[in-house]
Amino acid sequence: MLIREAYNQDIDQLVAIEELCYDQPWPREAFEEEIERDDDAGVGIVAEDEGLVVGFLTGMAVVDEFHLHNIAVHPDFRGRGIGRGLLEAAESLCNQKDFRRILLEVREDNEAARHLYLDLGFEAVGTRKDYYGPNQDAYMFIKHLGSK
Ligand SMILES: CC(C)(COP(=O)(O)OP(=O)(O)OC[C@H]1O[C@@H](n2cnc3c(N)ncnc32)[C@H](O)[C@@H]1OP(=O)(O)O)[C@@H](O)C(=O)NCCC(=O)NCCS
Repeated sequence: MLIREAYNQDIDQLVAIEELCYDQPWPREAFEEEIERDDDAGVGIVAEDEGLVVGFLTGMAVVDEFHLHNIAVHPDFRGRGIGRGLLEAAESLCNQKDFRRILLEVREDNEAARHLYLDLGFEAVGTRKDYYGPNQDAYMFIKHLGSK
């Protein structure tokens, strides 16, 4: 399994995984915005197995924070440490850039993702009501980095 930066030519595969993973997938433009942008703010990381993308993580740097927008692993490849590997790669990138923290939202009923974040040292710091639609609240998670 190779964890590497995402490139423009990966976007088709990211969109395909996104559509497999979510009832309301993000459109292609959301991926283009993060991966194809000219400045340094967009972050895309993929997990590749035998030349195929099997998972991804995307987000955006906002000053000295990383806002994690999406992480997904192809259903056939879950439970093998790929989600963990993607998050660790993002954290390592954030540490290289001297970021202060990583922030994200997760659906209240997304047990797998909540466990993943807690396992990697994130803490729940609040909720956002109806963030994903009526009666679909989000937990806000944060991980403080380094000694800051
Ligand atoms: C959440 C997701 C990315 C996890 O990816 P994964 O590659 O299967 O996760 P890993 O194998 O790296 O698991 C790492 C840890 O996450 C937690 N975890 C993963 N799947 C879990 C599950 N089904 N139930 C409970 N905990 C789970 C565990 O703590 C696990 O550690 P362990 O293996 O030592 O028990 C994956 O389930 C997914 O793509 N879900 C659909 C998209 C999604 O909901 N993304 C999150 C949006 S906020």
